[in-house]
Amino acid sequence: MPTDPYWNHNTHYHPWILEQVPEHARTALDIGCGDGLLARKLATRCDAVLGVDLDGHVIADAPVAPNVHLEKADFRDLDDTFDLVTTVATLHHVPLGEGMAALRDLVAPGGTLVVVGLWKMRPVDYLTYLPALPLIWARDRRHRRCLGGPEVSLRAPRETIAEIRAAAADHLPGAVVRRGLMWRYTLLWHRPR
Ligand SMILES: C[S@@+](CC[C@H](N)C(=O)[O-])C[C@H]1O[C@@H](n2cnc3c(N)ncnc32)[C@H](O)[C@@H]1O
Repeated sequence: MPTDPYWNHNTHYHPWILEQVPEHARTALDIGCGDGLLARKLATRCDAVLGVDLDGHVIADAPVAPNVHLEKADFRDLDDTFDLVTTVATLHHVPLGEGMAALRDLVAPGGTLVVVGLWKMRPVDYLTYLPALPLIWARDRRHRRCLGGPEVSLRAPRETIAEIRAAAADHLPGAVVRRGLMWRYTLLWHRPR
């Protein structure tokens, strides 16, 4: 397992993502891979990992690793399937329904989709985070010396958690959507064989 060069609210979810890697997973795709940190971690569990990102610069600067191939591409243009598909803080960069449908089509039968995403928070959503604030603050503080990450394009999320759950019910039946720490949600879906 590579030592993380930095920590942020996205890498916070990497251990959880790795726990979701199925035993049988040989091929993995990380969408919006940035500098490939998650792709390199997935390569310790899968034989071949493809990372795609629209940003060619961040990919060009990424460290090289065995079993990992990073490529400038829009995930909606891919036509292969993978045993595992992951995407962190990226789904809100594309229209939600289109993005979910594209994710679904990239998962091989029997494969797993793992999403860590952002949603548009309403004032009431911020209120529900109040009890978690000490925990978030403690995590931020624990990692304050290595806070950081690659320079990637950011975008404000446009859909509420209710809209994300509704889209998941349409496109990824059976998906489990949960709100998590760090203002993120997780989505886990297994494609039937
Ligand atoms: C907020 S960054 C997250 C990067 C990384 N996953 C992380 O956790 O640090 C979102 C990334 O998604 C990429 N992206 C946006 N739309 C994309 C698309 N349609 N296909 C592939 N990558 C995309 C952006 O270039 C950006 O690097």
